[in-house]
Amino acid sequence: MVPEANLRFALSAALIASVYLGDALSFAVYAMASQPALYDRIRSEADALFDNGDPDGEDFTLSSIDVTHRFLTECLRMYPIVPMSMRDVINSCVVEGYEIPVGARIFIAQTASHYMDDVFPDPFSFDIDRYLPPRNEHRSSGYAPYGLGTHRCLGSRWMELQLAVNVLMIAHYFTLEVSPENYKLRFSPLPSMKPSKKLKFHIAEQKRELPE
Ligand code: HEM
Repeated sequence: MVPEANLRFALSAALIASVYLGDALSFAVYAMASQPALYDRIRSEADALFDNGDPDGEDFTLSSIDVTHRFLTECLRMYPIVPMSMRDVINSCVVEGYEIPVGARIFIAQTASHYMDDVFPDPFSFDIDRYLPPRNEHRSSGYAPYGLGTHRCLGSRWMELQLAVNVLMIAHYFTLEVSPENYKLRFSPLPSMKPSKKLKFHIAEQKRELPE
């Protein structure tokens, strides 16, 4: 998977992945805290799963986290952590009338389509029902938070699980509010996309004791 010569990549992958998880989670917590109706629906799923202790693997199914999963799918559409990829061209080709010469370095903004309304109608509205049949708006190459093709992210399934568990646990234990109340979402794009540092969260309520 990783050439021996590229040890730098191998050693930094785990570090980068943990940064991506934190970035994606900050957007998700922001989206949850700023949309109380969705927060309640996520909490209902969390309570059903965690009220009797940790769920078994069989209980933790896609249908048991349907809302949470669609919510996270929408978070990664609206707030992609890795909005573009780079490639060095080894075979010349023509794309949409543009000649791409051998050796060129190209930047592919694979998530630009996330805001194109022929792919995602009304793209600026946060709508988790996009992912219900018959709409299934994520089932096209226009949905690409994890890249496309041969080098699509190897960690995407792990990330989906980690994000879901973290968001569910937060909803189970806490009601968080965005602070300051009038915070307007701004992106901080480097080294990966995340909300600006001015975003803070305030614990408005702790729903239950944390386990020892
Ligand atoms: C929200 C979190 C993440 C996002 C948005 C993300 C996004 C991406 C994207 C867009 C690519 C393709 C890059 C390209 O085409 O040049 C990629 C590749 C990759 N990702 Fe992720 N990633 C995330 C988390 C992770 C995690 C947690 C891991 C490991 C546990 C991981 C492992 C990898 C690996 C190994 C590749 C390279 C695959 C290849 O070149 O064949 N990623 N990721």
